[in-house]
Amino acid sequence: MAAPQAATKLLPPLLLALAAPVRGPPAPSAAFWVRSWPRVAVVPFGGSVPINCSRGFCPGLAVPPELSWALGSAAGPGGRRWRTFVLTNVTQWEPEPALCRARCGDSSANSSTAVIVYSEWG
Ligand SMILES: *[C@@H]1O[C@H](CO)[C@@H](O)[C@H](O)[C@H]1NC(C)=O
Ligand SMILES: *[C@@H]1O[C@H](CO)[C@@H](O)[C@H](O)[C@H]1NC(C)=O
Ligand SMILES: *[C@@H]1O[C@H](CO)[C@@H](O)[C@H](O)[C@H]1NC(C)=O
Repeated sequence: MAAPQAATKLLPPLLLALAAPVRGPPAPSAAFWVRSWPRVAVVPFGGSVPINCSRGFCPGLAVPPELSWALGSAAGPGGRRWRTFVLTNVTQWEPEPALCRARCGDSSANSSTAVIVYSEWG
């Protein structure tokens, strides 16, 4: 019965090695982010489309991101970390993308949604 004894002698150091947490320097806090969804909004000419802007955690910050779009948008429902914006009456064929933006301390982040306009009448 030499083998099991050898195994019990080997096992504890092996388990300790496997269980020992690998401690490096503290990880930098995850970068602040903003997300616009969908990334591509498809809307009929003259129609409306909602865009959801959301952001990452930011200590102390209770406001959702803002959306800016050259042709204007209406703010809809939201929470601390997201808000829906509606692009209404889209009457331009190749509009600029809509841009969601938020700031957290020294960091700012943005995310854009491309707007594709099509004709409902073929
Ligand atoms: C917008 O996105 C946030 C984050 O993903 C989500 O919690 C929320 O329910 C979304 N709102 C709508 C109206 O889809
Ligand atoms: C939509 O926009 C067009 C062009 O700006 C304008 O003539 C029209 O009155 C608008 N319609 C609505 C419902 O706002
Ligand atoms: C959007 O964010 C990028 C970095 O991710 C930055 O270079 C750019 O200036 C920002 N654009 C606006 C309009 O804030």
